[in-house]
Amino acid sequence: MVGAGRGDLTDEEFRADMREGVEKYGRMHLQAEVWESFAAGLRYVKYDMDAADGFELLKRTLEAADRARGTAGNRLIYFSTPPNAVMPLAERLCAAGLTAQAPGTFVRVIIEKPFGRDLATARALNERLHTAFIEEQIYRIDHYLGKETVQNLLVFRFANGIFEPLWNRQYIDHVQITVAEEIGVEGRGAYYEEAGALRDIVQNHIMQLVAIMGMEAPSNFHAEMVRDEKVKLLRAVRPIHPDDALSHSVRGQYSAGFIDGEPVPGYREEKGVAPDSLRETFVAIKVDIDNWRWAGTPFYLRTGKRMPKRATEIVIQFRRVPHSPFAGSVPLAEGAVPADGIEPNLLILRIQPDEGITLRFGAKIPGQALRIESVNMDFMYGTAFRQQSPDAYERLLLDCMLGDPTLFAREDEVEEAWRFCTAILDGWRAHPPDRIHSPNYAAGTWGPDEAHAFMARDGRAWHVP
Ligand code: BG6
Repeated sequence: MVGAGRGDLTDEEFRADMREGVEKYGRMHLQAEVWESFAAGLRYVKYDMDAADGFELLKRTLEAADRARGTAGNRLIYFSTPPNAVMPLAERLCAAGLTAQAPGTFVRVIIEKPFGRDLATARALNERLHTAFIEEQIYRIDHYLGKETVQNLLVFRFANGIFEPLWNRQYIDHVQITVAEEIGVEGRGAYYEEAGALRDIVQNHIMQLVAIMGMEAPSNFHAEMVRDEKVKLLRAVRPIHPDDALSHSVRGQYSAGFIDGEPVPGYREEKGVAPDSLRETFVAIKVDIDNWRWAGTPFYLRTGKRMPKRATEIVIQFRRVPHSPFAGSVPLAEGAVPADGIEPNLLILRIQPDEGITLRFGAKIPGQALRIESVNMDFMYGTAFRQQSPDAYERLLLDCMLGDPTLFAREDEVEEAWRFCTAILDGWRAHPPDRIHSPNYAAGTWGPDEAHAFMARDGRAWHVP
């Protein structure tokens, strides 16, 4: 593993930095002999972006490692850089001959998000990247796809026969996807000012969840089969016309408040954030999918920083019983809750924390009277498997080394997700951002009041995780 940068570091200093990282973030207690053998393979080299031979030392170090460590010309390049450094670096690595794959070897590159700022910049980045790498070499990482619970969505859907017949507009009223975080912008104010909730979470993590929940079954699990099905679903997502962006979305920004009883600052007080920033830290969107499976069954998406708790979950709300034999003979008004306590069935897929799945259904409360209450049937990862899941990055880095791109976003997936999000961004820009002139939700709450009104308008409500 060769660390390359513009700063002056010795191998020893680099190893000390790496050790600190592993001790702080590693899952397991670090054993001295394991560290020693790993650290022996760590090197640091300095490169010079401006010199013609600025990557010569990197090249020679890699070739030496090929002989000493048996890497045999195989390389995985990981850009741990700001987004604007990716292309200049890729081009120079290419010019230095470090991106070409000799027969029988691989050179792969991992690119982090943000992958562009909108559809046009993502397309341009894809085009430019293809001057240095072919598509098979490019691994666009979205760490959500490496989460065990996200991979399990595929297993849940395609390894069980009983849910598929229900998985459509006939039985599902709507789907909610929530990515709520307790944390604020955590010292990334400058980045977040550029990004906002839509670019930071919706364009990548949430759109991936939409694709997995909505896609058709691939005929096998080869990377391209899975990615083809995801792209097909994303293409069926109805674009929100910029003029409709305000009625199909809600934006919010947090003010100071309390999380777990502790006071926390408002977004505009965070480091790196403009005191009059209009950047959204919360967004809710209604998504329609134009295909036979989902027509008329909306997906509601929401994400926010500084919410009461960390919770990523997908809630599938099934349609109500068509007729309740328990409620007497009074016909029910559309959307009204029957007096007999029958609620719609829910299937709740908890991505994190408390990883697991809950099915909510009505049961008779014991006693003489016929009263009904919703109860839970629970599956918990922790108790079912009694083992800690690997970190998403562990899984994805290994997949990249093995050459399995299934859990990485292909060029067209990223562009389709941007197509949808860019229209919303255009709409927000074209219509003055009147809704977040001032922060509209207090830290520690479930977002602006408008987000609740947004659901109530459709006769629905957000599930409280
Ligand atoms: C990142 C976002 O992609 O995902 C962060 O940039 C966010 O803003 C993080 O906090 C959430 O990831 P996780 O795995 O902690 O839910």
